Amino acid sequence: MALSLARFLRRSFSVRRLQLTDCRALAELHRDDFARPWTDGEFESLLGDDTVFGFAAIEEGHPASKPCGFVLARLAAGEAEILTIAVARQVRRRGIGRMLMDAVLRTLHAERAEALFLEVDENNAPALALYRRLGFRQVGHRPDYYRDANARRSHAIVMRRDLR
Ligand SMILES: CC(C)(COP(=O)(O)OP(=O)(O)OC[C@H]1O[C@@H](n2cnc3c(N)ncnc32)[C@H](O)[C@@H]1OP(=O)(O)O)[C@@H](O)C(=O)NCCC(=O)NCCS
Repeated sequence: MALSLARFLRRSFSVRRLQLTDCRALAELHRDDFARPWTDGEFESLLGDDTVFGFAAIEEGHPASKPCGFVLARLAAGEAEILTIAVARQVRRRGIGRMLMDAVLRTLHAERAEALFLEVDENNAPALALYRRLGFRQVGHRPDYYRDANARRSHAIVMRRDLR
């Protein structure tokens, strides 16, 4: 049944650690946003990797509901990277992306990591705005790194945030 408008506007969200049982939902969210979607199996092998961790955003009061956003990160030898992040279109601009990134940053501070890196498409204005707001700065770029569904190429911007 469709949500009433009142309940839709009232919804609030929290984050929890990703679990192996989330893989199908993660693949569905990923497919909506990326030209080369990752499969359930790819998410399973990532979550089975000791260096990889992540968080799901869940509607508060509905702990068994499907994630409406998630982030995956890798931490190795004191340096971390964001592997991917996505929030369902219908709940964007409600602070979920920021909440997911904050959960990663808190984990990395607790682990005493030195820096967090990520790559983002030069044309991805929402993601660039989110990362800049969180204190990431451009440290490089990879020419023609991405190719969209129409074979158009774009650069990746490499960003870094110091954690110490
Ligand atoms: C990028 C993404 C994860 C942001 O998620 P979100 O939940 O909408 O982000 P938030 O609501 O937490 O936004 C936090 C801040 O980021 C910035 N921001 C986010 N979306 C923005 C947009 N469309 N335009 C401008 N600024 C934006 C704003 O500063 C915002 O704070 P504000 O709402 O108080 O102004 C989401 O747009 C998404 O899933 N995009 C598709 C997948 C993707 O591109 N992933 C990144 C790959 S590198």
